[in-house]
This record gives sequence, structure tokens and C-alpha cells, in this order.
Amino acid sequence: MARPTGKPNYGRVVLVSCLALLAAGLVADFLWASSHRFSSVGMSLPSSVTTVIGQLPPNSNGKDTEKKKDKVRERKLSATFQDLAAPQLKWEKMAAAPVPRLDGAAIQIRNFLYVFAGYGTIDIVHSHVDIYNFVDNTWGGRFDMPKEMAHSHLGMVTDGRYIYIVTGQYGPQCRGPTAKTFVLDTDTNSWSDFVPLPVPRYAPATQLWRGRLHVMGGSKENRHTPGLEHWSIGVKDGKAMEKEWRSEIPIPRGGPHRACAVVDDRLFVIGGQEGDFMAKPGSPIFKCSRRMEVVFSDVYMLDEEMKWKVMPSMPKPDSHIEFAWKVVNNSIVIVGGTTEKHPETKKMVLVGEIFQFNLNTMKWYVIGKLPYRVKTTLVGYWEGQLYFTSGQRDKGPDDPAPRKVMADMWRTKLILNP
Ligand SMILES: *[C@@H]1O[C@H](CO)[C@@H](O)[C@H](O)[C@H]1NC(C)=O
Repeated sequence: MARPTGKPNYGRVVLVSCLALLAAGLVADFLWASSHRFSSVGMSLPSSVTTVIGQLPPNSNGKDTEKKKDKVRERKLSATFQDLAAPQLKWEKMAAAPVPRLDGAAIQIRNFLYVFAGYGTIDIVHSHVDIYNFVDNTWGGRFDMPKEMAHSHLGMVTDGRYIYIVTGQYGPQCRGPTAKTFVLDTDTNSWSDFVPLPVPRYAPATQLWRGRLHVMGGSKENRHTPGLEHWSIGVKDGKAMEKEWRSEIPIPRGGPHRACAVVDDRLFVIGGQEGDFMAKPGSPIFKCSRRMEVVFSDVYMLDEEMKWKVMPSMPKPDSHIEFAWKVVNNSIVIVGGTTEKHPETKKMVLVGEIFQFNLNTMKWYVIGKLPYRVKTTLVGYWEGQLYFTSGQRDKGPDDPAPRKVMADMWRTKLILNP
């Protein structure tokens, strides 16, 4: 194969520059983390954030380095922080949800999308269920959640009739999680109490697998520290078959906001992050303050061997996707999310793509562009159409930072790679 001549050491220069930039970036992160705080979820940072990453590495002294640095920066940005090339899709706007929702939860049963809880604003949380009917494309059937049930960052899964609702954050701002756990019978819309989790968890991965309810990862009580624990309990028809949760093999990497799906008797845990906003120490309203988070693209799988296996990574790091997925034709489809923070502004960066993990080929694809970048979407699928609602969208096409909490519902024809 012919190689371009004249810059034989290009790769090496890039590597060295990368390392220098990385070091500068880490210093910037540290400075930023210890001196600036968000006042609330998704609100903007003070504009005085120092951007160290744009400065020259200490050993640089010429124009060439300057040019190369720009190149490195471009490459770095395009690898994780910028939008990926994706097919344009035709989106149809459907009836908006009765309320806007951030960090809510959703479960589809037949033609119904049950949409739970969530923040309306950072100071107001919902404590009810809204239902979307894919047959006539209307919202309705609102009913209340139990008073003690968490309002966001829930673990949730269904067997097709009963919905198991595990732990989650209780209250607005950055309050901590509860260990309380509930079951909803969707035939009667009646609630019952369930065995509390051994300790409260914030946004854990939750699934039903082989007759057991599994709960893994998430954050510990302070919202930030990743939990590695994994518990399960035998369940049948909305009831626990055992008195206590059992400890299972810990998850390789802890943290909240991951997609978790069971397909063909294998359990997948996809994406997520380590770290999250925390309550400001001493704040009577548990005011949210930003902490460093690391978003990852890791995919782990459990099969009958009960050992975690590493699967091909997502096309980019992606978090805030716990109810943003559907399984269609042996593929896991994931809508939006958040990726690593912007290296210069340090603001959260939202994801504007749809991903497909094809389990026939074990390959990831970017299969479409969303109408806007958005995190914590609530996703459904009905008769060839992929639907999403809720979440927090970007500031606009040129600014991927989070802004408005949404109620909109959209759909598009789902086109998968076979
Ligand atoms: C799923 O598979 C069925 C049967 O092969 C096919 O008709 C349908 O178009 C597929 N759906 C999608 C979204 O690819």
C-alpha cells in the first residue's frame, strides 16, 4: 500500500501532542471541578471557565506545532464530542405529553407507553403516570404514583403485565435515593409494595432475567459514587418468591444512567457514566452542584456462565439512556443521550443520533439523526415506527449543551441494518 511521503513521523507527533493536550485538559478539569458549580441541572456554567486545552503544550515553540495542535484538536473533537455522521430521517411530530419530563421512566406494554415521574423543573417533580396509546396516538389515563415512590432515576422493568419499580431519587433538586420498591399491575392500575433494595440506589440498571429481578450498578446515596453491587430476587406475577435480595456477581463498572436489556436469554448493560451532580453540602434544598462525571461507551453481557463479558463498544460514549432503548428484530436501538463534556466549555454535551446494536452481527451502527440532541428520552416502537418523547434538548443546532425540558412526542420509520 502506498503511504503519503514527507511526514513519516506524523503519527508520533500526534501521539505526543495528544498526551500533552490530555494532561492540560486534566489540569483544566481539576481546576474547574474545584472552583465552579452548577446551580441546577442543565443550567449553564459561569462564563469565566478557563480553557487550558486551547493553549500550547509547554514544549512547543513554532508554527508547525500550532498547526498540528489544531489538527489534533479537530480529531479529538470529532472522535467523541461532535455529532457523528448519520442518515437524515423524516420525523413526524405527534401529540405532546401532558407534562414535560426529565429523568422520567417509561415502559411499553403492547400499544401503551406508560410514562412515569420525572422532573418538570429542577424544583418540581411529578408523582403520576401518563399513558400514550400508539393505536390512536393520544395521551390519557393519568393516575397517581404511591406517595413514597421515587420521582426520578428509577430502575424499572416489566414482564408484560406487572411493572417492577426499584429505588430511585426521592424529591427534587439533588436529593438522594430511597430503597423503596413497588409493583404496578397494569391490568388494574393498582400498586403494591415490594421487598426494599438492601440499600438505596440512584438510577441502577434493572432487568428481569430467568425469573429473577436484577438490579445493578447505579450511584450510591450521594448520587455520585458508583456502586458495583448487583442483587437479584426471584419474582412471579408481581410477587417476590424470596424474602431477601441475593448478592450476584458485581458489575465490572458501576454508575448510573445505563441501558439494560435482555435479548435471547442474555443480559446487556450499555453505556452510562461514573459520577453525577450532588447536593451542595449543607444546602437545605439539596441544591444540585456539578461534579465530574466520566461517560463511557462500554457494553457488558451476562449469559448462562454468569460472568461479565465485554462486548463491542458504542460508537461514542453515551449516558442518560436508561429508558431510551427498544429491542427490535434482535437489535437494541438507542435514542440520544449525553456524551463526554465539551473539552473547552466543560458543559454537558447531548447526543443527537440513534444507534443500533445488531445482535446477529454484534456490530454497532449510527442509523439516524434526531430532530435535536436530547437526553433521557422515553422510547417506544409500534408497527414500524420508532417513537420518543420527553427529555432535555440542546440549545440549538450549534450548541449541544442542555436547555429545555420537553414534552414533545416524535416518530419516524425505523430503518435497521440487517
Ligand atoms: C423486522 O423483521 C421483519 C421480518 O423479517 C421485517 O418485515 C421488518 O421490516 C423488520 N423491521 C425493521 C424495523 O427492520
